Amino acid sequence: MGFVVGIDGPAGSGKGTITKKIANLTGLINIDTGITYRCVALQALRTGAIKDGIIDEKKIIDLLDKIDIVIKNTPNGDIVFLNGQDVTKEIREKEVTKVVSPVSSIKEVRFAMVELQRKLGKDKDIIMEGRDICTYVFPNADVKIYLDATEEERAKRRYLEMKEKNIEMSYEEVLENIRKRDDNDKKKEIGALKLAPDSIVVDTTNLTIEEVTDKIVDIIKNKRNDIKK
Ligand code: DC
Repeated sequence: MGFVVGIDGPAGSGKGTITKKIANLTGLINIDTGITYRCVALQALRTGAIKDGIIDEKKIIDLLDKIDIVIKNTPNGDIVFLNGQDVTKEIREKEVTKVVSPVSSIKEVRFAMVELQRKLGKDKDIIMEGRDICTYVFPNADVKIYLDATEEERAKRRYLEMKEKNIEMSYEEVLENIRKRDDNDKKKEIGALKLAPDSIVVDTTNLTIEEVTDKIVDIIKNKRNDIKK
């Protein structure tokens, strides 16, 4: 196993932004595991396994061995290919965001995606973000961080992010979606969002991106020096 940093936390806690910054500063390879679940959700929508809001679990499970996900790290962010097609933008759209949490709750989906995530991280020095990285995907991670912030602050951040990407959603809609996803993500049978007993909690509500980044980079540096000794 390489050096593994796990970053867990709810939607809007700052995981995405902060993980990318830390990857740039430390040279760790950034793996955003939410992408894998978003690709499954998108393929389910495209193939009719989700239709009119109704999720056909069996159809989704049948899709799993026909899905090929490739994530390319670039200085301008990840480029995501689903069965050879660039879906970087589509996977962030509101249709996908609305159904991704229930899709990611399907046991078979989790088993397949966790296997892929472990493969993506195998023998590399990585920083991996998600919900269950420190508890389930890499329970022996060298550094475990749990990022958090109040619901309102997280909704505000996601709302501004969506606006920047020209995705139309009201603040209320975003807040409602965050509440639903948090609730669903915490109740999952496998891979629920929860705090690992040895994770360090960082509340980002009143901190700047730089403050959070510096704090975590210090933790990583200390741990890496420990390991090198
Ligand atoms: O981080 P995100 O918003 O892109 O994640 C999309 C969904 O995938 C989110 O509702 C929770 C789920 N997810 C998960 O269950 N486990 C992970 N390791 C990452 C994401």
